[in-house]
Amino acid sequence: MIIFYAKKSHYFFSNLGLGINIFLPSKIIWLINFILIFIFIFMVEQTNPRAQKNDGLGKNLFNLVWTDSIDESLDGNGLGPLYNASSCVSCHPKNSRVGPPRLIGEKALGMLVRISVKNNLNQEVPHPKYGTQINTFSVKDFPAEGVIYVTWEYKNGTYGDGESWQLRRPVLLFSELAYGPIDSSVLRSARVPPSLNTSGKIEKVNDSSIITGADPDDLDGDNISGRPNFVRSKITGSNQIGRFGWKAGKYNLKEQVATALIEDMGITNSIYPKQICPPIDINCKTKNNNRTSLELNDKGLLSLVKYISNIDKENSNIINNQASSIEKLGKSLFIRSSCDSCHVPHLKGKNGENVVLYSDLLLHDMGEGLADQRREFEATGREWRTAPLVGLSNLFSPNNKISLLHDGRARGFSEAILWHGGEAMDSRENFRLMEKKEREALLSYLESL
Ligand code: HEC
Ligand code: HEC
Repeated sequence: MIIFYAKKSHYFFSNLGLGINIFLPSKIIWLINFILIFIFIFMVEQTNPRAQKNDGLGKNLFNLVWTDSIDESLDGNGLGPLYNASSCVSCHPKNSRVGPPRLIGEKALGMLVRISVKNNLNQEVPHPKYGTQINTFSVKDFPAEGVIYVTWEYKNGTYGDGESWQLRRPVLLFSELAYGPIDSSVLRSARVPPSLNTSGKIEKVNDSSIITGADPDDLDGDNISGRPNFVRSKITGSNQIGRFGWKAGKYNLKEQVATALIEDMGITNSIYPKQICPPIDINCKTKNNNRTSLELNDKGLLSLVKYISNIDKENSNIINNQASSIEKLGKSLFIRSSCDSCHVPHLKGKNGENVVLYSDLLLHDMGEGLADQRREFEATGREWRTAPLVGLSNLFSPNNKISLLHDGRARGFSEAILWHGGEAMDSRENFRLMEKKEREALLSYLESL
């Protein structure tokens, strides 16, 4: 046993087992004692199973590359039969966003394409063969549903000062379709994976704060009439305010993550216990009906949710209190152009705190140019949830070309703004008619958020 102690002016290190006594200066003895206490606390924390499981499991599951037969300790076998990617992180790389394919002839990987058809009553229902999403991969024995390519349609225009710009929008091409053609009557919506930096914050927002901002009948006459999306929750079985996804189609993180698991990766969980089977695959259905265990249990699901809730803390921006004069000008132009009518700087959190998102989390009609013509609960084909603007500059990196807007068509802030139409037409025109110096100031302000 080792003892360090200090008494009046006598200080010594004693190893009783070996009978060794060494005298040391008091300051060193106290320092050694403090270090030993810290090491002791650290070791206790490490052996605390709760601390270990909560932090590690969610992150591991987020980074895990799932395979058809997965580690038994995670309750069963996982990936597929149909899927779009084998890990969360491949579509949501930390701090970033996966865009549409860069080259013609390159397959769309992170980008998802949701589809639906209209029935005799003019209601939108899943496609009878392909369901609600084209799954571009499959595990062995089944064909993938198809491959998606993108080509671009270009549109030219000019700013008020005569400078020209070129915008592009994706045109989807389906190939190697396993169950027959997808004709032009099929409604389709391409979505790039958003960065998850703001997801934890979105979860914190109070419902009443979202509702307070709504003005569905535009009573204040500013041509901006946001409204919440009310979505059917699988968890509560009732309608809830939607928050997550480009059309606010999911109401909380648990439901969003559970949907990602089943639809994007084919992993059953307590909210979606049934596998999505290819239509021709009788075996898959039989296997599914006989299955008793889930591919990811609730402990895993909740750890993933917890991990995502905390991503913004891991990557929190260094708050820039010293705005430059350019950014100050940019801020005033942001307000003058009514960007803040939709991109409201903060909403109230569940504990009364300010949650900084630069979004009202409401749906807005963004005009024909951005429309996908496909409904998602109450959101029409022209409506989208105001995209949060915080942390977007994190998406810029030498290797990552920024992809803005729901389908990643915009290659920078200016293109994203120039696509704004519908309720945001006045804002967009305000930007278009600014002097170059002002436009640049507004863009610097966006980068600083
Ligand atoms: C194939 C790519 C892909 C995979 C794999 C994927 N996602 Fe996503 N994720 C998306 C897309 C696309 C959206 C936007 C969906 C929409 O608009 O409805 C999204 C949306 C989200 C959101 C909502 C973000 C927000 O703030 O609105 C969360 C959270 C999320 N995904 C978490 C996950 C987790 C956790 C996993 C792994 C279990 C996962 N995703 C797997 C593509 C993917
Ligand atoms: C009427 C509401 C509204 C107004 C006004 C508005 N926006 Fe938006 N903004 C949106 C919506 C909705 C989206 C998402 C559209 C989409 O993805 O198709 C969006 C997306 C964006 C994006 C892309 C974000 C991303 O994650 O890809 C940027 C940048 C942006 N807006 C900046 C601005 C600026 C700057 C202004 C003022 C000049 C402005 N917006 C005015 C509603 C609005």
